[in-house]
Amino acid sequence: LHIALLFGGNSSEHDVSKRSAHNIFDGMDKDKYDVSLFMFTKDGILLDHQSSQRIFDGEPEDQVVKEAYAKMDLASPLAPIAALNEVPEIDFFYPVIHGNLGEDGTVQGLFRLLKKPYVGSGIAASAMAFDKELTKRILNQAGIRNTKYILVTPDNQANYGWDQVKAELGDLVFVKPAKQGSSVGIHKVRNAEEYQAALADALTYDYKVLIEEAVPNPREIEISILGNEHPIASKLGGLRIPEGDDFYDYNNKFVDASGVVFDLPVIVAEPLQKEITQMALDAYQALEMKGMCRMDFLVDENDVPYLSEPNTLPGFTNISLYPQMWNVSGISYSELIDRLIELGIE
Ligand code: DAL
Ligand code: MG
Repeated sequence: LHIALLFGGNSSEHDVSKRSAHNIFDGMDKDKYDVSLFMFTKDGILLDHQSSQRIFDGEPEDQVVKEAYAKMDLASPLAPIAALNEVPEIDFFYPVIHGNLGEDGTVQGLFRLLKKPYVGSGIAASAMAFDKELTKRILNQAGIRNTKYILVTPDNQANYGWDQVKAELGDLVFVKPAKQGSSVGIHKVRNAEEYQAALADALTYDYKVLIEEAVPNPREIEISILGNEHPIASKLGGLRIPEGDDFYDYNNKFVDASGVVFDLPVIVAEPLQKEITQMALDAYQALEMKGMCRMDFLVDENDVPYLSEPNTLPGFTNISLYPQMWNVSGISYSELIDRLIELGIE
């Protein structure tokens, strides 16, 4: 099977994608798969296979991109996908692009246009799950517990001063751009000043911003889902952030994870374990997902779980929980990749 492994992308998670792609590439059985790498640059331009391979192998990205651009007709409206000329030989796509472009339905639309199978959720599920507000609408309709929120946009921003927010959601809230990954642009807010700054920042990422009630002193618990019509759930994984940190932010995830403690698997009371598993499977089906998803939960002091967010293209970095939760549940890295490819072909 000739697979195109796509990585990079024009989101704030470009570098995270590179790390995930390395692990997935290493985990692929090269006797079964012939793998070609293609990178989307930070400008959202697909590079030819050779340039992509050089970057993957560690050559300075800026330099290789510059050289590749010099050979391309960047003024052409087809420039972003000109490298697809190399694609006719490809049987299957493996997108490892987090965030915008890779996780929001965009490349999934491209794969459909090319009539090629691929790993993971389709266009609609990807688009819904990547938009935190659309996700909440679906979860609420399906009766799956999640935190209360207010949607703020440039149009209604004037109606939501801090006093209004506090009255509706309490005096500790999270401000989140609707469409972002790896916690980029997310702020924990306790007062009017922090609120204004957070809102201004979040609005630079997206015109839709969610103000969410905070779950007090939450435990962070995640679960991995794998499958199409009959998905299975992994054991639970837990993580504990350093004392005094606001939440599991980009820094804790990808810059300095040394202070984060992972519990793999995390042992919780049986009713909580069952409830989280059921909520995750219900959400997977409500959001019409395929292939895989990592569902992140916040659990309050009374063992009440809230579904925080689904990730249709979860990280595969060295500390990422999706593959590790499968590993402690009896599915090795390379078996997981085989299954994801089979599920994409199915
Ligand atoms: N968005 C990052 C990659 C994750 O969910 O793991
Ligand atoms: Mg996410």
